Amino acid sequence: MIGREYTFPMKALVITSLQGPSSLVVQDVPEPAAKAGQSIIRVAAGGLNFADFMTTKGGYPGTPPPPLIAGREFAGVELTGNDENTGRRVMGYAQWAVFAEKTAAYPNMLWPIPDQWSFEQAAAFPVNYFTAYLGYWQAGMTLPAAEQPMWGQPPSAVRPSEALQRTPRVLIHAVAGGVGTAAVQIGRLLGVEMYGTSSSPEKLARVQELGLQHGINYKRHDYEEVVKDLTHGEGVDAVFEMLGGEHTAKSLRCLRDFGRVIQYGTATGHAPKIDLRAMYAKSASVQGLWLTYLSQKPEIMGPAWKQLSSWIAEGKLAPQIGHVFPLERAVEAYKLLEEGKNYGKVVVKI
Ligand SMILES: NC(=O)c1ccc[n+]([C@@H]2O[C@H](COP(=O)([O-])OP(=O)(O)OC[C@H]3O[C@@H](n4cnc5c(N)ncnc54)[C@H](OP(=O)(O)O)[C@@H]3O)[C@@H](O)[C@H]2O)c1
Repeated sequence: MIGREYTFPMKALVITSLQGPSSLVVQDVPEPAAKAGQSIIRVAAGGLNFADFMTTKGGYPGTPPPPLIAGREFAGVELTGNDENTGRRVMGYAQWAVFAEKTAAYPNMLWPIPDQWSFEQAAAFPVNYFTAYLGYWQAGMTLPAAEQPMWGQPPSAVRPSEALQRTPRVLIHAVAGGVGTAAVQIGRLLGVEMYGTSSSPEKLARVQELGLQHGINYKRHDYEEVVKDLTHGEGVDAVFEMLGGEHTAKSLRCLRDFGRVIQYGTATGHAPKIDLRAMYAKSASVQGLWLTYLSQKPEIMGPAWKQLSSWIAEGKLAPQIGHVFPLERAVEAYKLLEEGKNYGKVVVKI
């Protein structure tokens, strides 16, 4: 399976066809053999991502055809190539084949698990926190306040002192989800004023406890109108947009001058609609973000991990786990994401 050499059988969650979560089956498959430079990990927990759901429907770019072992994010214990236990607790990121008793991973996609974290917490970390952090980075908000670009000012202008004192604003869609809850924790640390959307008042109440200042229930209110009202017609500096379709154009209209829509997903299944006139009107932009691509760039991942790990060491980041399922009930976990009913991360115990 998937071009690797295998030895002994192990349990794995296999995508047997591209019919959605119902095509997932726990099967005995051969163990992975490490390619040069890879480690073998005994997997304890897997983090479920919306991308995993998309993969079961053939909607994720670059995925090989089935049969294919599911899962892209994990936590466990690193083993050497000959099965000796090194004891290093690691969390990691791959493109597939991690919802199994063992997986193979390259060292640049493995990070040490903080001592105080469980495997479940660690499995909820890499994708959500790197994506959220890189969203702020692409929005120009990860620098200390004194070095931040002038929000809403032309790039060439001399920074007036009042511009430096303005708090940057971000609108976060699916704020109660995996990436969303990570973005709230990071936004709080960066001193960002956050507006966030969710379908549920209960989910919004939980995220407000994490530091979200302005929760918007999009089932009851038009988020574009709410953002306009709350910002006195000015808009936000960035939108973390993962819905696609009309929401991209709508998010552009939520921006203030020189704002950026950071487009990192299409959960609606519709291609983002881009309204160039709205972009001209405010010198605004839409910028793509794809962790799969950025994760291959050490010059980007290194500084991101340096910042994230220092926040972890200070106890400032706490992965939000809404639901834990055993491997045998993974289909239910996938359906929770499909129906948008999850809070924070959904974790699968291996
Ligand atoms: N580009 C990247 O590198 C990257 C990395 C990670 C994730 N992503 C993308 O980011 C998005 C969030 O991923 P995640 O894993 O953190 O998932 P998630 O946010 O935990 O779950 C998805 C949430 O989106 C909301 N939602 C709104 N419209 C939806 C729809 N039509 N269908 C399903 N859910 C909908 C739901 O929350 P409410 O009901 O509260 O709105 C749901 O709980 C996904 O689009 C994913 O593909 C991209």
